[in-house]
Amino acid sequence: MRTVIKNGTVVTAIDTYAGDVWIENDKIVAITAPGASTGMTADKVIDAAGKLVMPGGIDAHTHLDMPFGGTTSSDDFETGTIAAAHGGTTTLVDFAIQTKGGSLRQAVDTWHGKAEGKSAIDYGFHTIITDVNPGTLEEMGGLVKEGITSFKLFMAYPGVLYVDDGQIFRAMQRARDLGGLICMHAENGIALDVLIEQALARGETAPKYHSLSRPQIAEAEGTHRALALAEMAGAPVYIVHLSAPRALEKVVEARDRGLPAFAETCPQYLFCSLDDLAREGFEGAKYVCTPPLRPREMQADIWRGLKTNDLQVVSTDHCPFCMKGQKDLGRESFAKIPNGMPGVETRMYLMWDGGVRAGHISPNRFVEITSTAPAKIFGMFPQKGTIAPGSDADILVWDPDKEHVLSVETLHMRVDYSPFEGRVVRGAPTHVLSRGEVVVEQGKFASKKGRGKFLRRSTFGL
Ligand code: URP
Ligand code: ZN
Ligand code: ZN
Repeated sequence: MRTVIKNGTVVTAIDTYAGDVWIENDKIVAITAPGASTGMTADKVIDAAGKLVMPGGIDAHTHLDMPFGGTTSSDDFETGTIAAAHGGTTTLVDFAIQTKGGSLRQAVDTWHGKAEGKSAIDYGFHTIITDVNPGTLEEMGGLVKEGITSFKLFMAYPGVLYVDDGQIFRAMQRARDLGGLICMHAENGIALDVLIEQALARGETAPKYHSLSRPQIAEAEGTHRALALAEMAGAPVYIVHLSAPRALEKVVEARDRGLPAFAETCPQYLFCSLDDLAREGFEGAKYVCTPPLRPREMQADIWRGLKTNDLQVVSTDHCPFCMKGQKDLGRESFAKIPNGMPGVETRMYLMWDGGVRAGHISPNRFVEITSTAPAKIFGMFPQKGTIAPGSDADILVWDPDKEHVLSVETLHMRVDYSPFEGRVVRGAPTHVLSRGEVVVEQGKFASKKGRGKFLRRSTFGL
């Protein structure tokens, strides 16, 4: 099967040029000058005149079908990956959680069971290690050989996901030896639990106190500690869901010293704020995620970090919970609101409309932070994350002016609200290709669940 995407403008992380993209089965095989006589014929022609041809989005941080906060995130691998495809994301990396007393093997087998036969796009796994012990340290080696080359550790959520500094340090040393990458949830959870207890004792139970009891200094301290431990271990480290300017300062300082330190932020930290958490009644629960949303004036620093490459990636931390039956577990106490927001479908729209169109980033930088950089950091490049001969044909035909309304009515995530309800964005995919197959065309899902393949990722190579 040969497909050609003709007359479009190819945009990669570094180039913008007119080119026809030729696909054979699941791979890109050639890029030719528009109208050049190639001698090739195509079974399918997609006319991309007036459109951009970009690599499919890679979301390196999702939580599908994840037990958390006394409930389970509301999207599974079927609904979450179909929603992702609608929004122009063609690969995701989800987190397999080690249950207390369980092995990493069990975690990964459980996650394979959740994804197989359901995922509509390609997917990989990180493993969340909740108990670093000789057994799990040993297991990390086996997982790296299976292409699960990154591991998340939590400084937050004492008694649930938290691991102490000794465990973190040992896991970092092991990751260094294996070519693995530690992803860190960097907040001082021990101190935060004290602040939360004190806030609740004062009767501060509304959603906004989720943010007010988690000051940015707790994230800055965690980030500094993660970077220092990684430096001591001689290991690379990736700070997940960075939300706070003072945490960013720590990353900048480490990178300026040449350390292999990386960080992502998420759209909610660029487009939502403490004002949303303070919405009337219980509305603020829609915006409870961790680290929390910050005061609006802090967003400028996060944008600056993205511009200057102090932040390398925008992923979603997609972790949806419905208001009815899930978020409302916390009506009496913000501490019981399941932490997480939906986002896997809206990332590309928001980063184009609010990032490129708003003048914060160029189209090339958009490609870099949503696709190329996560592919490189997480061992998927050049199979994923670019448009080049030999790469998987994960491609967006993107209409930079197409209007789309972000609403629970128009979006496909299995959640009963949208944090961006009614926001009109410009820029949307007309065609989404995953390994050469058109999976979404003009806003309609055109494929089937279960076609997504597990991705064996390479060791850390930057
Ligand atoms: O609120 C969040 N971020 N929920 C998902 C778990 C995590 O910490 O990433
Ligand atoms: Zn986290
Ligand atoms: Zn997360």
